[in-house]
Amino acid sequence: MAKLNVNGSRREFEAEADTPLLWVIREQLGLTGTKYGCGIAACGACTVHIDGVPTRSCIRPLSSVTANEKIITIEGLSPDGSHPVQKMWTALDVPQCGYCQSGMIMAATALQKAKPNPTDADIDEAMTNICRCGTYNRVRAAIRATAKGDTKTAALNIQHADGSVA
Ligand code: FES
Ligand code: FES
Repeated sequence: MAKLNVNGSRREFEAEADTPLLWVIREQLGLTGTKYGCGIAACGACTVHIDGVPTRSCIRPLSSVTANEKIITIEGLSPDGSHPVQKMWTALDVPQCGYCQSGMIMAATALQKAKPNPTDADIDEAMTNICRCGTYNRVRAAIRATAKGDTKTAALNIQHADGSVA
């Protein structure tokens, strides 16, 4: 019997020791907000927090995580989607298809906690997730706006690749 601490609850389940944490989260625990994209730690769709550190769960075997470590998935970020980063994501309509967005939000919330006022360099370093819909500009704008706590004018600060602002 394996044990993990997920979203504040102690969970017990059956799984092989080499099962990737991503599949334990999705299959054994039924938390399907965390997505599979590449399986090689390249895209970030599978990002969860382990003791506050954004972690690509697709390459973490179950055996590498102890029951004392606190895992947070997108479902555990807030009971009702009210985390400041989630609220800003909504205010700025960040998601397109949405597939990458759980991972994006988990990376952004870890950044926001570590660096409440991140520089562009901090954002570049932290946000290495891949988005096939190209939401990068809005992701960046939402992180900046979260730092300012400003949902009203946030949409005015989106800088596009051609230099225009909309
Ligand atoms: S599925 Fe884990 S990084 Fe892509
Ligand atoms: S919103 Fe579609 S992949 Fe990012």
